[in-house]
Amino acid sequence: MAAQDGQEPRETLAAGERAARLAARAERRQGGFEHVALPPLPDVPGMIAPAEQRYLYWLTRATFAGQGAVVEVGTWLGKSALHLAAGLRDAGLGGTLYCFDRFRWREPAEGPHGLVQGSDTLPLVRATLLPVHRDVVLTATEIKDLRWQQGPIEILFLDAPKAHRPFVRCLREFGPSLLPGVSLLASQDFAYPRAYAQALCLGRLVDRLELVHVAGNLAGFLVRKPLPQGRELAELLDERSFAAEESLRLWDSFLARIEEQKTRRQMRPGICLHLYARGERRLACRLIREMEFTPHMRKRWAGWAAERETCRLYRGLFAALGLVPARRFPWPFRRERR
Ligand SMILES: C[S@@+](CC[C@H](N)C(=O)[O-])C[C@H]1O[C@@H](n2cnc3c(N)ncnc32)[C@H](O)[C@@H]1O
Repeated sequence: MAAQDGQEPRETLAAGERAARLAARAERRQGGFEHVALPPLPDVPGMIAPAEQRYLYWLTRATFAGQGAVVEVGTWLGKSALHLAAGLRDAGLGGTLYCFDRFRWREPAEGPHGLVQGSDTLPLVRATLLPVHRDVVLTATEIKDLRWQQGPIEILFLDAPKAHRPFVRCLREFGPSLLPGVSLLASQDFAYPRAYAQALCLGRLVDRLELVHVAGNLAGFLVRKPLPQGRELAELLDERSFAAEESLRLWDSFLARIEEQKTRRQMRPGICLHLYARGERRLACRLIREMEFTPHMRKRWAGWAAERETCRLYRGLFAALGLVPARRFPWPFRRERR
């Protein structure tokens, strides 16, 4: 295991210090993590908010205890990985950061450093991360092909799986390597309405995963008991089994535990996307009409309504918000001939 030049990791961590770091991780904290002073870091484009950046740095800097790997799924250009890596460096305890992503530039528009659609982003991300922390392993993969055989995981940061199937796939692959009382699962976009699958799945695992942190849209869950494995987990989290009543209950129980009003308010309508997608359209439309939408939220939802495929999936919901016209019969209306 290599260390940052001039910063050899300390060989061992005294039991007391390890316990103190794990205790810091287990403490309940919500907010902007303003107490965290970030070191100077390269300016990398990224999708995570400043509070989320500070949280990730704090997580490795203040709570990494040398008990397993730090794993990220969803690296993009390396902003989140940079904060995890800098925290490992500054903790001085070694530790390997594994990053999984497609590492392909998918946008039609040109990206930084001349990236064009289809470009391999891995060399660029590697060049960003290695000067900060040398013990970084980058793997280009699709989530469905991802394999984890590198042992225990202390910190698992998920920022690629937003939909149900890839989220369960990640839990299934990494779950057996999470250590009760030690490991933390950080779920990016937990409070983002379109990532509603995360809260529903995590809600079903509430007796094993305890919500301890919220920073922006990111939620950290301490592993209290082993997760069910393999088929058992897949069956427990079967997408078709999330009926309206239970889903609403899980949603409300998380909302009740989120302290920041802004985060609660923006998360709340996410359940309507789930209900609508399940076919509970009347209920979804009725609920969303009763919800408070700030101008900022309305603008964001209008942006989704303008996406062709998203609008096709949730048209009635967007119509209930007055963002698109309600569907009308195509004209001229033709009767089917017998
Ligand atoms: C929201 S971005 C990550 C942002 C990044 N963490 C940051 O701090 O800026 C999501 C990333 O997940 C990756 N991703 C999404 N779905 C994936 C999949 N099925 N398999 C592999 N990577 C995936 C994308 O390539 C993208 O880089």
